[in-house]
Amino acid sequence: MALSLPDQTITSQPALPSESNDSEPNNAQRTTNNELAAHVLAGLTRQPRALSSMYFYDAVGSELFQQIMALPEYYPTRTEFGLLTRHRAAIAAALTSADGQPLHLLELGAGDGLKTKILLRELLAAGTDFTYAPVDISPTALEGLAASLRTELPALRVQPLVAEYTAALAGLRGQPGRKAVLFLGSNIGNFPPEARQQFLGALAAQLGPDDRLLFGFDLRKDPRQIRAAYDDGQGVTAAFNLNLLTRLNRELQADFDLAAWEHFADYDPQTGAMRSFLVSRRAQQVHIGALGRSFDVEAWEAIHTENSYKFSLPQIEQLAAAAGLRVLTAFEDEQQWFADVLLAPQP
Ligand code: AVJ
Repeated sequence: MALSLPDQTITSQPALPSESNDSEPNNAQRTTNNELAAHVLAGLTRQPRALSSMYFYDAVGSELFQQIMALPEYYPTRTEFGLLTRHRAAIAAALTSADGQPLHLLELGAGDGLKTKILLRELLAAGTDFTYAPVDISPTALEGLAASLRTELPALRVQPLVAEYTAALAGLRGQPGRKAVLFLGSNIGNFPPEARQQFLGALAAQLGPDDRLLFGFDLRKDPRQIRAAYDDGQGVTAAFNLNLLTRLNRELQADFDLAAWEHFADYDPQTGAMRSFLVSRRAQQVHIGALGRSFDVEAWEAIHTENSYKFSLPQIEQLAAAAGLRVLTAFEDEQQWFADVLLAPQP
């Protein structure tokens, strides 16, 4: 079965570790239209249909996500920002090894790096010898981050890489010194359960006893609050979801009629699955030039486009244990809406 799972961000893309030591993103792994075309073919052929949220982040999608983070309903970013501010000294100390060996700080899905800068400043102030290696699938986001770091934190050593997660992790084992991997923003919530466990296990297998992970988890809370965060009043999240179709129209010569699709988001409080869909308002046919074929769509048929899973602390402990990891500390905000969890290999 060669089907892509929804939000399956692990791919078999070859690893091309960045060889540059400057702060220009290495764009060798920019998503090619061939990969996108293969993904769309698989996703629209399978039933029920699904496309990966990984493809939301073109230049327009990355800009829309910046707007989402500022929405009143979208609590995760400002909550995690607050908890990082609150716990920054303890987190920086936990990432710094006692014997002063250099730290390689890899961040998956770094985005605009606004939250991470809290930790970077803290590590710099403590005199920690470290390199920051931000990885993101969006070249525009990563270029913006690299530029802002050059001006705001000129003393910082930065090794940016445009890549998907797996490719970025492949180069990790060869790094000397202590390694720490940041995976903030509850990006782990994009994986469906099986892929999540597989991803964490594969990552854990690359770690030495002294290495650390800091993972952000959006916690379970009032289901209405969660649902509202993914269906905001201004329609920015709807535009973010629908932009995927605009991208397919442009990059794959598709003819999706944007007026015939709508955003739908729903939360399941039993599984913690927050899921987003694009729903077809009518029966229609969509032609995709790059695939040389058309797809029939039924009235009210839905394409699943994103998972944003929510977690409980016991569930996080279980997830860690099954990957050969243990929870050292769960750093939370005062309302316990979000946790940045420090993980280490099991002794
Ligand atoms: C960037 C994956 C953490 O799932 O909350 C925000 C993306 N999607 N609103 C999330 C997103 C819709 C976000 N992550």
